[in-house]
Amino acid sequence: MKLNELREIKGKKKLVMLTAYDWQMARILDEAEIDLILVGDSLGMVIQGYRDTKKVTMQDMLYHMRAVARGAKHTPVIGDMPIRSARTVKDALRNARRFVESGAQGVKVEGNKPEIIRVLLDAGIPVMGHVGLLPQTAESHRVKGKQPTEARTILSDARELDRLGVFSMVLECIPEALAGRITRAVMAPTIGIGAGKFCDGQVLVTNDILGYDQGFAPKYLKRYANLNKTIKRAIAKFQEEVLSGLYPDNKHTYH
Ligand code: KIV
Repeated sequence: MKLNELREIKGKKKLVMLTAYDWQMARILDEAEIDLILVGDSLGMVIQGYRDTKKVTMQDMLYHMRAVARGAKHTPVIGDMPIRSARTVKDALRNARRFVESGAQGVKVEGNKPEIIRVLLDAGIPVMGHVGLLPQTAESHRVKGKQPTEARTILSDARELDRLGVFSMVLECIPEALAGRITRAVMAPTIGIGAGKFCDGQVLVTNDILGYDQGFAPKYLKRYANLNKTIKRAIAKFQEEVLSGLYPDNKHTYH
């Protein structure tokens, strides 16, 4: 699917986006035929072990972008512009082009940055917007848009991004009713994370839905596997078999 065709799909089919940071996961997501893969700056937390996304650099993002691009043969891959990658319009354009050179079909820009988004779109780089909770600048991980003034700002930001021509936009951690209102107001498909069921699609961090980390548990997160337990069980078994001499057995030995 071409990113610029996504606006035509709005309302006809729900979109599924997940994050990937490495080649193996990219291959799995590609084979699962989801709609979009995001190399999210959430890698700051789930890969690098920081508290938030504020320390992630372009270099970090491009390293993971290249690995994911090698694994995603059919699924469009989006590169998440990290904090400090778009301090000026010139920086933003240079960094978005680096994403494209590394295999991205488009980039995601957090927040309403019309000058930057316009320049990227004029340069032919598809842009995904992102409104609501903006982790790169947020003080804390809390729901946005509960107060009427904040809700109005989020709605008007979403409308502006839509007018600019983003191919889609992420709505993060906002009340379901506001997400529904935005979804009806814009032509671009909305992809929610903690934004309820009225969005045109949903995104979650893959490591979170697979249950790697039992500590991170926002209300919106549903775990579809408990890999933490599965991995620990496998490691304990390996350790036990090495200690007892059961591994390697004949079957796993060259003769
Ligand atoms: O960085 C990320 O993974 C994201 C998604 C959660 C939308 O921005």
